[in-house]
Amino acid sequence: METIPLWDASMSVGNAEIDEQHRQLLALNQRAAELIANTHGTHTRKEIRRVLNAIVDLVETHFAIEERMLSLNGCPNLAEHKAEHDRYIELLADLIHASMLKDLKLKKVASLLAEYIQHHLQEMDMGCREYLREKPTT
Ligand SMILES: [Fe+2]
Ligand SMILES: [Fe+2]
Repeated sequence: METIPLWDASMSVGNAEIDEQHRQLLALNQRAAELIANTHGTHTRKEIRRVLNAIVDLVETHFAIEERMLSLNGCPNLAEHKAEHDRYIELLADLIHASMLKDLKLKKVASLLAEYIQHHLQEMDMGCREYLREKPTT
């Protein structure tokens, strides 16, 4: 099974709202990975889909907040960052689709998704943290 790290302070981007969303996102991804590793029948697949839908709800808000901050703060690789967000949504859609079709590739897509979220958080988001930080309100 894919092991997804839980959030800790070493992953902070210096923005409490974004950090909290990252914490939730990693926890939900971990939950999805656990369920997918133990898929048994319709009940589990429904549960997997519920978790995936919760991830979609969360990332829709989360990505919009990040992209707005990056744009406001003039992040030079906004387009590249946004492309990774869009790719994550595509992977999620593939996974939801696979879960509906009882598709055997479920585990393969799940491992891609796990790899992806770790890479994006630890490299792309952390690399942009200067542009995601809370600015003092003056
Ligand atoms: Fe993020
Ligand atoms: Fe991001």
